[in-house]
Amino acid sequence: MTTRREALGLFGTAAGAAFLGSLLPDPAAAEQAGGGLTAYGVAPDGKVAGFPWRYMKLDADAVAERAYKGFLSGHCMYGSFFGIVGELAEKYGAPYNNFPFAMMKIGAGGMADWATLCGALNGSALAASLLSNDPKPIADDLFNWYQSEPLPSYHPKQTPRVEITTKSVAHSPLCHASVARWCEKANVKSFSTERDERCAWLTASCAKKTVELLNAQADGAFKAAYPVPKEVQECRSCHDKGGELEDTRGKMDCAPCHFNLGTKHPIIERKKI
Ligand code: HEC
Ligand code: HEC
Repeated sequence: MTTRREALGLFGTAAGAAFLGSLLPDPAAAEQAGGGLTAYGVAPDGKVAGFPWRYMKLDADAVAERAYKGFLSGHCMYGSFFGIVGELAEKYGAPYNNFPFAMMKIGAGGMADWATLCGALNGSALAASLLSNDPKPIADDLFNWYQSEPLPSYHPKQTPRVEITTKSVAHSPLCHASVARWCEKANVKSFSTERDERCAWLTASCAKKTVELLNAQADGAFKAAYPVPKEVQECRSCHDKGGELEDTRGKMDCAPCHFNLGTKHPIIERKKI
């Protein structure tokens, strides 16, 4: 018997796209497959019925443009998520176009203006989670790229509200650090049009990067280009899982917050940010 996944494999081309609406996850079918669980619920074996949704390779620049425009109507998390999943919705219809995209608006300003995780990263990682069997390496590469790359790297095609000439390295996946560093370098206020425009370009940059990673993964050619920096790995070797202290967790760059370790601390080489 042909399984559903094999059947999907037969329709890998645009010609097969019309069939996808009927083949892609249907909540009622998913509920049945999930043995009575709510649609898309997690079964005891850790699997999720009808999930992830099938990914079809996208044009990274088209995604960036959609993300940019998405930012202008729904901010960063909405923009990056809609840039990617909205592109699939326009090309392939259901189920992508049934996604309640508006729920992503809460991610603005590092989630409800808490300036925690950058919304452009949040929306991108959520899109990868919706569309990939193996989203974590994508999030890892995206986040490490974001921490170390001068951004924003994408210039929108339409004339922007204001030209952005400053790029900065965030050294953090946090909205707070990312915005503050950029504002300091650009010498503008955090609620200025300049900062808003910079975040729109940043949203497009992140969505574009994510789709490049998703495309590479779909081709079986994904290779992490931004590993966790050596210094962070060293900190983690004592402080993270399995380390001698195991008193914290995380892959963020530690240095921006812990720049001054006590005199009792084991001596380690520090880079200067
Ligand atoms: C060789 C193991 C080792 C490595 C590597 C290491 N630590 Fe520690 N860390 C310790 C020990 C042991 C203590 C407790 C001693 C103390 O109170 O300073 C500690 C304490 C700390 C503390 C709490 C006390 C303080 O000094 O503020 C922080 C924060 C910390 N480490 C951060 C880091 C960061 C950031 C890095 C990487 C740059 C790092 N550690 C690398 C072993 C390590
Ligand atoms: C965004 C800022 C931030 C980043 C990034 C960060 N930390 Fe922390 N860390 C904190 C804060 C705040 C505390 C709580 C400090 C306190 O209350 O004493 C803390 C606590 C700790 C402690 C416990 C300190 C103690 O007094 O026992 C360790 C160890 C630590 N961090 C290690 C790390 C390591 C390793 C990394 C990188 C993988 C890291 N931190 C990244 C802000 C940060």
